[in-house]
Amino acid sequence: MSESTFPEKLVDKFGRHVDYIRLSVTDRCDFRCVYCMTEDMTFIPRREILSLEELCQIASAFTELGVKKIRLTGGEPLVRTDVMTLIQKLGALPGLQELLLTTNGSQLTTYAEPLKKAGVNRINISIDSLQADRFQRISRVGKLDKVLAGIDAAVAQGFDRIRLNSVVMKGYNEDEVLALTDYALDRHVDIAFIEEMPLGEASDHAREDTTCSNAWVRAQIEKKYQLVDSPARTAGPSRYSQVAGYRSRIGFISPVTHNFCEDCNRVRITVEGRLLLCLGNEHSVDLRAILRDGSKDMDDLKRALVAAMEIKPERHHFYDKDHAQPVRLMNMTGG
Ligand code: GTP
Ligand code: 5AD
Ligand code: SF4
Repeated sequence: MSESTFPEKLVDKFGRHVDYIRLSVTDRCDFRCVYCMTEDMTFIPRREILSLEELCQIASAFTELGVKKIRLTGGEPLVRTDVMTLIQKLGALPGLQELLLTTNGSQLTTYAEPLKKAGVNRINISIDSLQADRFQRISRVGKLDKVLAGIDAAVAQGFDRIRLNSVVMKGYNEDEVLALTDYALDRHVDIAFIEEMPLGEASDHAREDTTCSNAWVRAQIEKKYQLVDSPARTAGPSRYSQVAGYRSRIGFISPVTHNFCEDCNRVRITVEGRLLLCLGNEHSVDLRAILRDGSKDMDDLKRALVAAMEIKPERHHFYDKDHAQPVRLMNMTGG
């Protein structure tokens, strides 16, 4: 394949156009959220993780193949040393329309301003509780005050549509749905409620005991507010509603009760350089091996990305007892 024969866009065998990548920059995190990690995590040795240059090469290959959105994930992306250097480079990639970040908010008092200056368009900030003791129980080590201050810092920078992410779990925070909604409405930011996915084994609970359906979450909000469905879409799987008179959008991400795989537009890159074609399956391609093979170049990398579209699975099978579930924890996957 010569360079001119590369397709302008990546399309999988089900006709889905992949124009969004989720690039994990670290598996490390300063929190240990119960739905994402075990308490005593072992992280990947540094030599096995992609360098900033390798991350840039992958991002660049994808944008040359028509990818328009890159979301940086983790672990917690902002704990990676020199992450700002990477973000500045990605912000300058030709063809990229949106540079996005998902963060736990703990470092935003320091980073909100440089992120805005580097061209990050939107930030999603995880917050599962507004009560300090609960917040600590869910994140195991996180401090609520720092995250609230981080949200304020992001709001002060005027990012386009900041979104809060809340995973709602029975026995942890299900009685805070309205409080979280009010908090978002008051600050004119969006909020997405997320159904907990069975990725890896959670060490503090059995997932089937804690998972809350978004139909239930929505009903809690409707006790106080009338929700009107919104046609708005962001890059990801959230479906939005609005409360009349408020700017905020209320999102629902419902991977467990509503499969949204038919319009999946994204793939993930783990920090070890594994191109993961679906969150709920193990189909993957080792991009690091290509990057570290001296006989291979950018065209080889792009060829591998085009070929990978052929193995993108049709859908996940969360809670289908006849299918094996991923053993990967979320911090290894990049959200
Ligand atoms: P927007 O660009 O704001 O739409 O972001 P997003 O929802 O794509 O990204 P974010 O990192 O905020 O993820 C929110 C939740 O959606 C996390 O729990 C993700 O794991 C989940 N999510 C994102 N993409 C997918 C996907 O392709 N499949 C599934 N099942 N869940 C996903
Ligand atoms: N199920 C659903 N969402 C999860 N997240 C992390 N682990 C899970 C899980 N098992 C969410 C975080 C963050 C985003 C990157 O993914 O809350 O908002
Ligand atoms: Fe895409 Fe897989 Fe997520 Fe389905 S589960 S939306 S196929 S990444």
